[in-house]
Amino acid sequence: MPFSASPQPPAPDSAPDSIVIEARNLTLSLGRAPAQVQILRGIDLTVTAGESVALLGPSGSGKSSLMALLAGLERPSGGSVRVAGLDFVGLDEDRLAIARRGRIGIVLQAFHLLPTMTALENVAVPLELAGEANAFARAASELDAVGLGHRLTHYPAQLSGGEQQRVAIARALAPRPALLFADEPTGNLDAATGSAIMDLLFARHREAGATLFVITHDPNLAARCGRIVELGDGHIVDDRTTA
Ligand SMILES: Nc1ncnc2c1ncn2[C@@H]1O[C@H](COP(=O)(O)OP(=O)(O)O)[C@@H](O)[C@H]1O
Ligand SMILES: [Mg+2]
Repeated sequence: MPFSASPQPPAPDSAPDSIVIEARNLTLSLGRAPAQVQILRGIDLTVTAGESVALLGPSGSGKSSLMALLAGLERPSGGSVRVAGLDFVGLDEDRLAIARRGRIGIVLQAFHLLPTMTALENVAVPLELAGEANAFARAASELDAVGLGHRLTHYPAQLSGGEQQRVAIARALAPRPALLFADEPTGNLDAATGSAIMDLLFARHREAGATLFVITHDPNLAARCGRIVELGDGHIVDDRTTA
């Protein structure tokens, strides 16, 4: 049943003060005792609509893990996550996928492109699944926006790491999500390309009021965000607004 109309996502309850992300006492431990590792030790975080948040912290501090919980890709060991008024911990996989579709864009550190699809198909097929009529035209224009207009028919294996990263960014941006998670989105890019991608992310943030949640080691990218949250050893060790 290719690309039949998708079921409607569950209606979000009213989000009074436009809280987009609300995490309470989130914990994550992996493995079993005695080898159990405490990755997150009690995270409280509230993000309101239209914020741009940079998540910083040393390698191994739990940044990718926290993003996976906030994006509903992994389940916490304890605590709660509400995103756009939806209880992510209480939703099953299918309902989570439906809840995310079109609303939440995610760029993972490993890009997770489908190897059997071209760059264009990687971006267009999720759009079609979301019911977009002009999926291929929209996908082509998104790829053009990340500087890959000349790579539409290439397969991921034929693309450099930086190009694959940009396909993943185009795929996440194409549905115009209200909330975008990105895990080191400029990590594989040279300075000039990284700067162009940042411009694109922040243009979407400004024009569409999209909320940005970006993990980065790049001080230039962090400085462009309105807020910097720093993770250390499973805790939030700093949370500040930028000037
Ligand atoms: N599946 C896993 N099992 C055990 N430990 C893990 C697993 N995934 C990640 N970790 C550990 O969790 C910690 C945090 O990882 P991660 O969230 O990827 O950190 P960051 O993104 O800040 O570099 C690291 O010490 C990592 O080795
Ligand atoms: Mg990481």
